[in-house]
Amino acid sequence: MDDVFGYSGKRVLVTGAASGMGAATVTALKQLGAVVIGVDRVEIPGPVDEAVTVDLLEEDSINEGLAQVTGTLDAVFSVAGLPGPPFTDLQVMIVNMVACRVLIEGLVDRMPKGSAIACVASAGGIGWESNIATFTPLFETEGFRAGVQWLEDHPEAWSWSGYAASKQALNVWVAQRSATLYPERGIRLNATNPGVTDTAMLPFFHEANGKDLVDAARGPTGRYSTAEEQAWPLIFLNSPLASYVSGTGLYTDGGFHGALLTGQVDFSHLLPAE
Ligand SMILES: NC(=O)c1ccc[n+]([C@@H]2O[C@H](COP(=O)([O-])OP(=O)(O)OC[C@H]3O[C@@H](n4cnc5c(N)ncnc54)[C@H](O)[C@@H]3O)[C@@H](O)[C@H]2O)c1
Repeated sequence: MDDVFGYSGKRVLVTGAASGMGAATVTALKQLGAVVIGVDRVEIPGPVDEAVTVDLLEEDSINEGLAQVTGTLDAVFSVAGLPGPPFTDLQVMIVNMVACRVLIEGLVDRMPKGSAIACVASAGGIGWESNIATFTPLFETEGFRAGVQWLEDHPEAWSWSGYAASKQALNVWVAQRSATLYPERGIRLNATNPGVTDTAMLPFFHEANGKDLVDAARGPTGRYSTAEEQAWPLIFLNSPLASYVSGTGLYTDGGFHGALLTGQVDFSHLLPAE
């Protein structure tokens, strides 16, 4: 394959590398000639060059993982995440938001000018623009412990739905932090907002929300995304081809967001009666 994305010989790091979108991202990046460091809490079956075991629920584990990552990084793909139940809303907020931010902030020192970061948020975070003021104080905290403390002190900000709240918060952070990260370090920061994707996470969404509701969020394509269909937009966002793209949350949801915004998705028959 021609190196149109410019990853040949680049050092990249992928969290959530063991499964789903992260695993698909690892496979594609290896095909593009990148040197891939995979991060996950479980063993990574895919073709990574280095594997770093990190449990994003544990501060010590994050710090130990950061210490194991050596050399410079040209791109970071923050893909790891938890669904809702059986995990608690607090655990979901920690992995999907607090640990994602702490890990990235711990890596930017070794990212040269021109490098890029892409996070995976979710179409489940649609409406995040209404909660910018809610989550901004979380981003005034520093480090893992202070972030968790803020969550514990402000359950009203996120306990309405750990998962959707975590993905709203991530969109807010990407929009805010990108505005300082580029001037400070020349690093771009973006997110994707995937629609329903056929990975190991899908059964958890079916169980928590009901399959009919999940299926109603498939968007105009009428089908689930594959993990590979989520990997390529991430790879584009972190490539030099996207050199003027920063601070955005790209909807990779088969058109669901557009249809919802324009009143073409009706969930009313699936929601519990008032
Ligand atoms: N599947 C969907 O429908 C969907 C839709 C929108 C967004 N997302 C998001 O996409 C991302 C990837 O999810 P996926 O669908 O590939 O699911 P997945 O379950 O296949 O992959 C998630 C990965 O994250 C890792 N992970 C979870 N908790 C961790 C922890 N504490 N420490 C380290 N690693 C941890 C898992 O081990 C796994 O490898 C997640 O952020 C998820 O929220 C998924």
